[in-house]
Amino acid sequence: MTANESSPARRVVSADFAALVDQAGHFFADCAAEAVAQRGWFRVALSGGSTPRGLHQALAGETTDVELKQRVKTIPWAKTVVYFGDERYVPPDHPDSNYRMARETLLNLVPIPPEQIHPMPTNFDVPAEAAAAYTQTLQDTFQTQPGEWPQFDLILLGMGPDGHTASLFPGTAAIHEQTSWVVSHFVPKLQAERMTLTPPVLCAARQVAFLVSGSENAAVLQRVLEGPFEPDVRTSQSIRPTSGTLTWFLDEAAAAKLSK
Ligand code: 6PG
Repeated sequence: MTANESSPARRVVSADFAALVDQAGHFFADCAAEAVAQRGWFRVALSGGSTPRGLHQALAGETTDVELKQRVKTIPWAKTVVYFGDERYVPPDHPDSNYRMARETLLNLVPIPPEQIHPMPTNFDVPAEAAAAYTQTLQDTFQTQPGEWPQFDLILLGMGPDGHTASLFPGTAAIHEQTSWVVSHFVPKLQAERMTLTPPVLCAARQVAFLVSGSENAAVLQRVLEGPFEPDVRTSQSIRPTSGTLTWFLDEAAAAKLSK
């Protein structure tokens, strides 16, 4: 069974990274408008890494897409609540911090009330306590009922060169976590501590969007989307939304090895 047999996913293939970002920007605005109209709030989890920088800049108005430039002005930032899908366990001003990247490329540039921005805390001596604190933040702000998973309106994800997503790295217990919402773990491959939303939370979202760009990702993307279903190896394959929609925003370079 390949991943896409059991979890039909939408693919949006753009000519290049700039076009990918613009497509994702329109999608982000669509998700925000729908969420606020239907539920009063737009709860979104931002991704880490470098790819989201382009999307963030577009959402802040830095785009050559004239329609998007106007569209992002209508994003209901006052009703937007920002979370993070994962974080490097470093101080918020560290160059590797996903929160720092998001601040610099988006959050400092749009009118989101500060109390609606929820970074993953990295100031606990014990990372597991930070994960517990973030779990509490999710429980408090999603107001979930016992036994319910927090349901994000949109979760943005990237894919690493080994096919991982968020901070779900092959060989770590986090990829099989079915109870906790957030885990902190030492990632041997990185020799670093990471914090991440767990697969059930990622899969509970109404919309999940991967942004994948570049020829260096073409081979692993083909394995993820068309190869054998091996989520322990390529953890992006574990993202199969329970009831939501999965969309892959790709550029032609990343999609070059896909058969269809
Ligand atoms: C992180 C991530 C990680 C990232 C991928 C892609 O904190 O690094 O969340 O999963 O999304 O590794 O990273 P790039 O966008 O830099 O290619």
